[in-house]
Amino acid sequence: MTKPLNHFYRFDYETRLTMLEYAVNLTASDRKMLRDSRSDTGNDIVENYLTDFNLPEGLATNFKINDKLYQIPMVTEEPSVIAAASNGAQLVAKSGGFVAKVQNRQMIGQIVLENVSDENRILDWIHSNEVLILKTANEAHPSVLKYGQGATQVRLRNLSEGFISIDLVVDVGEAMGANIIDGMTEAVSKMIQSNLSADVLMSILSNFATESLVTVKCQIALETLTTATLSGEKVATKIEQATKLATLDPYRAATHNKGIMNGIDAVIIAFGNDWRAIESGAYAYACRSGKYQPLSQWIKQDGYLVGEMTLPMPVAFTGGATKVLPLVAVNKRIADVKSARELMMIVGSVGLAQNLAALKALVTEGIQRGHMSLQIKSLARSAGATHAELAVVVDRLSKMSRPDLASAKTIISEIRRKKSSK
Ligand code: MEV
Repeated sequence: MTKPLNHFYRFDYETRLTMLEYAVNLTASDRKMLRDSRSDTGNDIVENYLTDFNLPEGLATNFKINDKLYQIPMVTEEPSVIAAASNGAQLVAKSGGFVAKVQNRQMIGQIVLENVSDENRILDWIHSNEVLILKTANEAHPSVLKYGQGATQVRLRNLSEGFISIDLVVDVGEAMGANIIDGMTEAVSKMIQSNLSADVLMSILSNFATESLVTVKCQIALETLTTATLSGEKVATKIEQATKLATLDPYRAATHNKGIMNGIDAVIIAFGNDWRAIESGAYAYACRSGKYQPLSQWIKQDGYLVGEMTLPMPVAFTGGATKVLPLVAVNKRIADVKSARELMMIVGSVGLAQNLAALKALVTEGIQRGHMSLQIKSLARSAGATHAELAVVVDRLSKMSRPDLASAKTIISEIRRKKSSK
């Protein structure tokens, strides 16, 4: 039975492992695995540090975005994601590549007032003190002025039922801006409380990053979509129908968008960014009309399948974990990316490529067939195949009509039995 652990953070690493061994069911090999994957960086980042949890990183190849060629690192545990992104990129590159545009790059911080009964007094005060609010915000984080323009605008939203949101629009330069904005909104909140008799409920950055949008477009010549059994025209019609389906049905829209986020999250993680922020912004944006919608649209137009997607992409190029995680610097060099804006366009393009590959597979051969070899590999791994056993297990599973975990385990046992009887 699990025992409680007190003040775990106060102890050195080895003592922590001993405490853990005592408190939970931990084997000697578990302890070794935790210790072998530890890093000083990880220890500096999180509380109660145990180990670095490794995820595989691979390369999505040959993305053409605004006429520049990119090789893009992606970090994911899902076997088919990187191959699918590369497939999508290849299809798009044949017809000229992605065209991406950053619409804007600012973040929003909220200072939310509650129990407001005299709305007009508050709204008037804020309107006539905009300059003071911006000055207070920028003085709380003067260094941001070096990288961006700092707080540039104050907006007001009367949320009803006594709530008013004072939205601070901030140019955060190359950072994602969470710390900058949280510092700014807290300073503004204090200033407002001392000048106005108003209750501040909270002050915090908003992840609904509508001022940090990227738009990605591509067009694919219909003939390049041709499969063994379907014309390119037919495949394009089916992809168009798939978009229509997602606009009508939130059950499908959620999966459609999950496919997009498969690509987006994998790049976001490779660049040390906050994927929860990107996820929450994307899903809020998908609901902006009041109805959950697909983030991308595909239509047939003048001999092409045309894809387009706009979504919030408040990435950091500097600061936070991007500075601390050593592989981020390597990944920046691999992708040859030089700014937050460029990263926004890369991430958006990967999302659209991922979506294209998924939709094409879904409306043609189905998702299982295309990903079978990767899934079999993953099945063999889940059944406990070692690296040395993997090729044989995969080969034998591939020859089966219904490969499953039980058969993978049987094959592994047979290999081991044969080996030990030699
Ligand atoms: C699986 O991770 C993602 C897909 O389900 C996306 C989609 O259905 O569009 C294949």
